[in-house]
Amino acid sequence: MKRYERFAEQIAELIRSGVLAPGERVPSVRHASRTYGVSPSTVFQAYYLLEDRGLIGARARSGYFVREHARRPLHEPQIGPRTAQTTDVDVSDLVFSVLGSIKDPHTVPFGSAFPSPHLFPLPRLARSMAQALRGLSPHTVVADMTAGNPDLRRQIALRYMVSGVRLELEELVISNGALEALNLCLQTVTAPGDLVAIEAPAFYATLQVLERLKLKAVEIPVHPREGIDLDTLADSLQRLPIKACWFMSGLQNPLGATMSEEKKRALYELLHRHQVPLIEDDVYAELHYGPTPPKPVKSFDRDGLVMHCGSFSKSLAPGYRVGWVAGGRYAERIQRLKLMTTLSPSVPAQAAIADYLQHGGYDRHLRRLRYALEDQQGSMLASAARHFPEGTRVTRPTGGYFLWFEFPAQVDSLQLFQLALAQGISLAPGPIFSATRRFQNCARLNHGYPWDEQSERAMEILGRILATF
Ligand SMILES: Cc1ncc(COP(=O)(O)O)c(C=O)c1O
Repeated sequence: MKRYERFAEQIAELIRSGVLAPGERVPSVRHASRTYGVSPSTVFQAYYLLEDRGLIGARARSGYFVREHARRPLHEPQIGPRTAQTTDVDVSDLVFSVLGSIKDPHTVPFGSAFPSPHLFPLPRLARSMAQALRGLSPHTVVADMTAGNPDLRRQIALRYMVSGVRLELEELVISNGALEALNLCLQTVTAPGDLVAIEAPAFYATLQVLERLKLKAVEIPVHPREGIDLDTLADSLQRLPIKACWFMSGLQNPLGATMSEEKKRALYELLHRHQVPLIEDDVYAELHYGPTPPKPVKSFDRDGLVMHCGSFSKSLAPGYRVGWVAGGRYAERIQRLKLMTTLSPSVPAQAAIADYLQHGGYDRHLRRLRYALEDQQGSMLASAARHFPEGTRVTRPTGGYFLWFEFPAQVDSLQLFQLALAQGISLAPGPIFSATRRFQNCARLNHGYPWDEQSERAMEILGRILATF
C-alpha cells in the first residue's frame, strides 16, 4: 500500500466506525497534514481516492464532507476463483431474451446500456449535421468513404495526443461504432476454433462476437477495482495457444475497474513477450470522473501490438454509430476487412461529429456529463445502502454509469430480473456477462439517468424483492 492509500484507509475507517458521521467535514488538508504527519499532497491524493470511492465529496470553498451513504458503506465485491476457464460460447439466446424485454420506455432503465439521451447535446449535434451537410462537396461524399472523414480522423488523433498517445493517422480506421471495430480486430487476428482471452465478467457483446466467430473463450478473472488478474493471465499464456486478448483496461464493463498505469505497462510487457495482440476496448474512456484521462495500454505500445477501440456512442452521439480503431500493425488488414464487409460508416454522421468536435464545445459537454454521472452514482450508492439487504456488495468505479452489485449467495439474479421486470424495473443479471453462466447472484445497474423519486422507489422495490430470497 502506498502512503496516501494507507492514510485514505485510516480516514475510511473513521467513517466506517462512525467517528466521522455523514455530513461532517473531514479534517482540512492543512490540519490533517499536521496532525497525521503526512505531506499536503499525500492528503490530497488520499482525499481524491476517498472521493473516487464515493465516501467523501467536495463542496465549493468549504472542503470535503462525508457523504450521506457512507454511514453503511457496502463492501467491494469479491474476486472469483483465480483460475482461467476455457469454454465454447453459447449465450446469445439468454442475452437477447434479457435485452429484448427491457425496451419498454416506461420501464425504469437500470438494465440499459446507455445513459439518458437527455444528457447528450443532440440539438447542437443536429446543427453540426446541417452545417456539415451544407459544406459537403459531391466529391467527398464518395472519397471519404474508405479512409473516413479526414477532419474527424485528425480530431480523434488530437484527443489521443492530449492523453499521451502518439498515433500515425494511417493507424486510424473509422468504423460503425466500436462494436464493428472490435469485430474486425478479432477477425483479423484469429480463425475459427482459436482461443481468445476475455474478462470474467465480460461485456455480453464480447461473448456474442466470440460465439459468432466460433472462437473459444479463456475467461480471466477481473478484480472489481484493479482489473484483470495478471498472474492468471500469465499462467494461461504459458499453457495455452491464446491468439488474442480482448480486455478493457479502463472503466471495465460491467465492473468499472480501471487498471493502474504500472499494471497496464506490465500487461503490455507480458503480451509483448508472448507476441499476443491486445484488442483494447476503451469505449468509456471519456467518462472518467477525475481531472485527467487515464492512459490506455496503447500508450505503452512500442510496435503496434495493441488495437485500441473507441466510440462516440457513450459520450456524445448514441445512434450515430461512429467509432474507430487505432489498429497498430494490423490497421491495413482491418481496413481491408472493413471494405469487404460494410465499406464505411455513414459519411454525414462522420462529418457532423467532426464539425461538433471542432466547434461544438465537446470538453464542456464532457465536464457536465461526468459531473452528472458521478452525482447520480452517489445517489444510487446511497439508495442501495438504504434499501438493499445486509451482505450486499457493490463496486465504486471512478467513472462511467454502471454499478455492479453482488447480492447474498442465495439471490438468483435471473429470477430477480423477472420479478423486477414485472414491477416495471429492468436490470442486467450477472449470468449474461459470462460464457460459463457465473455471477448468478450479481447484477449490473445503470445510474446514467437523472435520479428522481421514481428511481428511489425502484430501488426500494428491488430491496423488497431481494429480501424474499
Ligand atoms: C464495453 C463495450 N464495448 C463496446 C460497445 C459498443 O460500442 P458502440 O456503440 O460504439 O458500437 C459497448 C456498448 O455497449 C460496450 O459497453
